[in-house]
Amino acid sequence: MDQHPQQFKIYEFPRGFLWGASTSSHQVEGDNRWSDWWEHEQSGRLPHVSGEACRHYERFEQDFDLARSWGHNAHRFSIEWSRIEPSEGHWDADALEHYRGVICALRVRGIEPVVTLHHFTNPAWFSRRGGWLRSDSARLFTRYAEQVVRHLGTEVKYWLTVNEPTDYVMQGYVNGEWPPFFKSAVIKAAIVFRNLARGHMGAYRALHRNRPDVMVGFCHNASPIMPCNSARRIDRAAARLRDLIWNRAFLHLIGARSRNIKQKVKNLDFIGLNYYKRTMVHSSGFGLGAVLGRTCELSHHYDQGPLSQIGWEVYPRGLKLVLEYFSQFALPLLVTENGIATDDESLRRDFLVKHLQSLASALDSGVDVIGYLYWSLIDNFEWALGTKPRFGLAAVDYSTQQRFPRPCVAEFSRVCRANQIFLSLAATEQ
Ligand code: FCB
Repeated sequence: MDQHPQQFKIYEFPRGFLWGASTSSHQVEGDNRWSDWWEHEQSGRLPHVSGEACRHYERFEQDFDLARSWGHNAHRFSIEWSRIEPSEGHWDADALEHYRGVICALRVRGIEPVVTLHHFTNPAWFSRRGGWLRSDSARLFTRYAEQVVRHLGTEVKYWLTVNEPTDYVMQGYVNGEWPPFFKSAVIKAAIVFRNLARGHMGAYRALHRNRPDVMVGFCHNASPIMPCNSARRIDRAAARLRDLIWNRAFLHLIGARSRNIKQKVKNLDFIGLNYYKRTMVHSSGFGLGAVLGRTCELSHHYDQGPLSQIGWEVYPRGLKLVLEYFSQFALPLLVTENGIATDDESLRRDFLVKHLQSLASALDSGVDVIGYLYWSLIDNFEWALGTKPRFGLAAVDYSTQQRFPRPCVAEFSRVCRANQIFLSLAATEQ
């Protein structure tokens, strides 16, 4: 970094800090044909098909070579439930062996695996019969977790049970944009949310039975929620209610309370935080829009940052805000996703540097963060948006499957290797 040295201090990250990137099975592996997403892609219900995606299922070793060459010491990926259990109760030994190979490939490269059990996709058989609405869904998920840990459990220390349960429920049961495409199904949404929490708790116990020193968390899509107009009481109330539902409800369901309530957290060893942007809300109209507020596109906010390819505002300070906010649960925090979809490489570099500064500033003020995983290792299939959004540290040419490291990799590698950063004193004062 080239700024004037007097405005900076060197911030040293804690020893053993986890540095790396994240992916998820459906977004990178390709040919994920036993999942509900695949089924809906083929039926035309979803606007894009994942097809071969990045063929990471075959190319994972080359992709991990890149991560190692960039100085990463950790990598988050997800195990695809529908590959492990393609039909109910049938366990695919080859798929289990495949993931053992993935973990081993990371270990030999000195990279700590961080493993997600559920990242949005379900086996098609599970969804056809009601998915997370079923009263036995948590039991079925726990049974899958048990199979996985029986085969791979001792090799992995960091586990994430479910990715972004709140978003999963919102997209599939309220907005109706993702499988199973329910719109405004509030009761169904509540049932699914509760079953996901039960699934988390079942998997938590299965993982701990197998290896007591394991660290089990889930990934939360964390966003600072702010009233659009702080002078309007109704906007402030909407922001508070949204915060309760988006940022606290799942933690509450699994029994995690803030440290003020002095309750021992039994079902969680750390919290994974996916941070992309802040949420500004204003209350308008009737019904849910009035009570929870609507998200605002920010165009009239004086301090609005640049927007990504998919319209997400760049707001680096928000990372420090969410880290401080979730530190109230007195558990270690791991940044499990943070990244930007853009074709503008100077914007990507700026995004990364500013978010790393925000991270360092949170640590410097005493927040317990154990690692930072960029989203994503390589460009990939961005759900209902297809392959257009470019999030990767390496670009992917989908016609040849070649990877091309992007310029910001050099900056990120320097930080990963040195385990330190020039911290802007202005950032620490924010
Ligand atoms: C997160 C998802 C991840 C990816 C990023 C951009 O919400 O967990 O799979 O799509 O957004």
